[in-house]
Amino acid sequence: MSLLSASLLGIDFASPLMNASGVCCRYNEELDAMLASDAGSLITKSCTLLPREGNPEPRYTATALGSINSMGLPNEGYEYYLDYAVKHDYAKKPLFMSVAGLSLEDNMAMLTAIREAKLPAIVELNLSCPNVPGKPQIAYDFEAMESMLEAASRVWAQPFGVKMPPYFDIAHFDEAAAILNRHPLVKFITCINSIGNALVIDIERESVVIKPKDGFGGIGGDYVLPTALANVNAFFRRCPDKQVIGCGGVKSGAEVFMHLLAGASLVQVGTALQEEGCGIFARLNAELAEILQRKGYRSLEEVRGKLRTL
Ligand code: DOR
Repeated sequence: MSLLSASLLGIDFASPLMNASGVCCRYNEELDAMLASDAGSLITKSCTLLPREGNPEPRYTATALGSINSMGLPNEGYEYYLDYAVKHDYAKKPLFMSVAGLSLEDNMAMLTAIREAKLPAIVELNLSCPNVPGKPQIAYDFEAMESMLEAASRVWAQPFGVKMPPYFDIAHFDEAAAILNRHPLVKFITCINSIGNALVIDIERESVVIKPKDGFGGIGGDYVLPTALANVNAFFRRCPDKQVIGCGGVKSGAEVFMHLLAGASLVQVGTALQEEGCGIFARLNAELAEILQRKGYRSLEEVRGKLRTL
């Protein structure tokens, strides 16, 4: 076992790092670049039953503090990612599939097809896309979330994970965690998706910076790090039988280490990967290893969830 070895669902990972769904994972070439990188695993773009063009461009902009996007789930349709998953060499790296149906029925149809393929792919069910006009984020509607998890547990009938939106109120942490805890097949919780429906303004142009939804979109990067860490830690504390994947604001080994302290078992990279490319994983691994060695840690296990309170 090496310093950066990680584990999720009893599966071993050479590094805790992977892409956040949506970045570097729409096309086979991008997934292959993830495979060739120093990431420990990779996840496919959130898929829908049918291919989607997504929202009109420009729909992603990087800013000094991160990014804003309203992509609108552009993807090649679940069959494309299922084909990739069928051909994938699981001995090389674990593969996650992100599933984001536009309805409960769509999700059940996709989960049924993926289940029938009998693959070791790990499913992350996206309950938190903020960018499809007319489709609210499922995990902000606790009744809809409960029904979705109930149906997914029945149809999928094996361990899976959920991609969650950020919450901002202790009562919401409590309620969301209670729902997740009622579903034992939900074995991991990915916190967080982008903070939805933010507005970035360019003062020179006196304008929004992305076209869809009058400029409203999900933000990532530096803006979201403290919110991401709070959500990782809130669910880590409340869901002792589940694992947490951290996502949000990772751009160096320091933020990876923060996510681990907060309770993350794996850590996803979104905005910084989009901006820097797949070479970022070699840098993040090296920076994380340097921090661990400097502090005398011999494994990620020793760090996970060990955040001190005052
Ligand atoms: O920020 C996001 N953008 N989160 C999602 O879940 C989907 C993605 C998109 O395609 O809009």
